[in-house]
Amino acid sequence: MKKVCVLGAGSWGTALSIVLANNGHDVIVWSIDPEEVLMLKDYREQRDKLPGVILPNTIEFTTDLELALGDAELIVCAVPSPFVRSTMKSAAPFVKNGAIVVDVAKGIEDHTYKTMTEIIKEECPQAQVAILSGPSHAEEVGRKIPTTVVAGSKNKEVAEVVQDTFMNEVFRVYTSPDVIGIELGGSLKNVIALAAGAIDGLGFGDNTKAALMTRGIAEISRLVIAMGGHIETLAGLSGIGDLIVTCTSKHSRNRNAGFLLGQGKTYQEAMDEVKMVVEGVYSAKAALALGKKYGVSMPIVEAVNAVLFEDADVREVSVKLLMRDRTSESEKLEW
Ligand SMILES: NC(=O)c1ccc[n+]([C@@H]2O[C@H](COP(=O)([O-])OP(=O)(O)OC[C@H]3O[C@@H](n4cnc5c(N)ncnc54)[C@H](O)[C@@H]3O)[C@@H](O)[C@H]2O)c1
Repeated sequence: MKKVCVLGAGSWGTALSIVLANNGHDVIVWSIDPEEVLMLKDYREQRDKLPGVILPNTIEFTTDLELALGDAELIVCAVPSPFVRSTMKSAAPFVKNGAIVVDVAKGIEDHTYKTMTEIIKEECPQAQVAILSGPSHAEEVGRKIPTTVVAGSKNKEVAEVVQDTFMNEVFRVYTSPDVIGIELGGSLKNVIALAAGAIDGLGFGDNTKAALMTRGIAEISRLVIAMGGHIETLAGLSGIGDLIVTCTSKHSRNRNAGFLLGQGKTYQEAMDEVKMVVEGVYSAKAALALGKKYGVSMPIVEAVNAVLFEDADVREVSVKLLMRDRTSESEKLEW
């Protein structure tokens, strides 16, 4: 049994706290929001973000970071990616030397274009850092629907501790050393999901969606390889696995935001309707900048940026994508 602290009490933090408590760990969940903590204490249910899923009685809730982190051996960072730096900065004084911080937020930081594990390492240098990612909607994990994810760390033992801590009969965890591959796969699939939603909003079909997902993973792969990650990771749970679930599921807020854009709503109208943080919007900007920095062609990312930030028409953008210069499917295959 481990002392585990979950930072963030939204849908993912809550769902993972259930996995951890069911595995026999001593779990405390921290939220910045006192009303959220009151709701969780009173109803043992995240009524706003994960309704209908009841939390085990053993889980504690607090707004007090020092209390939450005091003895924690393993810390799960489950706040949305734009809040990871501020949360880890406030948490750092209370994080024990050698504690493992597992990032489960998916995104790239605005302006710095850093990944979440890079931010955690910067803010909390005394911690060992890992990532847990894959096709895993909170709505299903909270209901014990079989799910598989990958635990990544540069240190094999750390990845194995994360695997042991989370794994059970409905939550299978693999390990991997390819942290950058996992992080980029998990963040950039949100950008492709915005485009997948737009395809549905435009009324296009399964052929279009399959094409977008296939060319989307090709685009992500080029960037991952340029940044030192591995192609095998893109064929895995945090690559194609997460891309499939995010581009096709009704639970995906990125896909849903894209759907509204495809239906002709403006950026602001789409964001207002989805209400939650749409991380693909931040990652779209970051992916464009990283693509330029590493000299990687990312036409879908460019198209998504044009719709989000240049008010481009979704249908016109899709025609432009289809009518780009003719090319071969892979530059690596020789005749
Ligand atoms: N929901 C999922 O199914 C799922 C699955 C895998 C990964 N993730 C990732 O987990 C992260 C959290 O997503 P979520 O779905 O739980 O989000 P959410 O919108 O359900 O929860 C947001 C939570 O963030 C916290 N929060 C809000 N403002 C904050 C601030 N300023 N500082 C610190 N904390 C603040 C609050 O506890 C709030 O409930 C995201 O990066 C997401 O990509 C989510």
